[in-house]
Amino acid sequence: MRVLVTGAAGFIGSTTAELLLSNGDEVVAFDSLVTGRFENVPPGATFVEGDCGDVELVRSLGHFDACVHFAARIEPSESMKNPEDFFSNNVASSFRLLDALIKSGVERFIFSSSCAVYGDQIEMPIDETRTTQPQSPYGQSKLMVEDGLRWLVSAGRLRAASMRYFNAAGGTLAHPERHIPEGHLIPIALDAADGHREYLEIFGNDYPTPDGTCIRDYIHVKDLAEAHVLAITALENHRELVLNLGSGVGYSNRQVVETVKKVTQRDFEIRYSGRRSGDPAVAVASNERARVMLDWQPEQSDIEVIVADAWAARQALG
Ligand SMILES: NC(=O)c1ccc[n+]([C@@H]2O[C@H](COP(=O)([O-])OP(=O)(O)OC[C@H]3O[C@@H](n4cnc5c(N)ncnc54)[C@H](O)[C@@H]3O)[C@@H](O)[C@H]2O)c1
Repeated sequence: MRVLVTGAAGFIGSTTAELLLSNGDEVVAFDSLVTGRFENVPPGATFVEGDCGDVELVRSLGHFDACVHFAARIEPSESMKNPEDFFSNNVASSFRLLDALIKSGVERFIFSSSCAVYGDQIEMPIDETRTTQPQSPYGQSKLMVEDGLRWLVSAGRLRAASMRYFNAAGGTLAHPERHIPEGHLIPIALDAADGHREYLEIFGNDYPTPDGTCIRDYIHVKDLAEAHVLAITALENHRELVLNLGSGVGYSNRQVVETVKKVTQRDFEIRYSGRRSGDPAVAVASNERARVMLDWQPEQSDIEVIVADAWAARQALG
């Protein structure tokens, strides 16, 4: 199979591209390098540098059996400050990419959506039937692409899967988690553990949760990559899929940080500051639908495994 992977110089895209290659697929790794790193692109993939909204460039790459579209700006808090960047990069570029791919006859499209489409939900776990109510331009940008995909599927243009990830984490030796800027708890806590940060800041300790800090669902990037490969196959039998990808278990920020201290055997200071706007108190997935539709199990997503793998990947960097 010939697969276009956008955002393949990023964290999840590079890990998924590597898995596709190891399964014998031909991978074109496409990335603007706006936040990604060329060294993340797995050897064996053909790298193309460019913006996924560049219709002529995408069309020049020819026919793909499938596209896995990871390329996006990803920080909800940044999207509150610069919403126009997120609508331009995440929405407009995605539809230009789709236009180019449809004209080249793509059959299957896997889209990186997010639990941010759900906003603040009261009842846990969250399943895919919940009313969507994004609370940031980032979450809205993901929902806008999902909505557009639904119309494209019903018009018979392609088959599509929207994958709503909860918190991607972990890492592999070849692909550690590093974002620019880094907004994710585990890599930030590892920075504090290895002395690259003076202290760790936790936003809010007055949430209605047992220890007052937010609760999140962490999913290992290896489990995510596996789900994408399975989704490409599942689209042979389904025209449209909308799937949560999470472990189904929630950990508070405080519990995650304690796990980082335990795994790394390093202590560091925690400082609490005010809540960030747009951060729900709790977000935990029901992953039942993905388990059934993909025959998928999140086997690597125990929090200690996630943190240990993230730490090993960090140390391998030197
Ligand atoms: N990391 C998470 O916890 C998480 C959670 C939910 C959803 N997601 C989604 O998963 C996807 C991948 O996330 P990630 O953590 O690997 O992020 P990342 O920042 O590591 O990777 C994103 C990649 O996309 C590239 N990119 C951005 N805009 C582009 C454009 N217009 N054209 C071409 N390349 C472009 C960047 O250079 C980068 O390499 C994103 O769509 C993100 O919204 C991530």
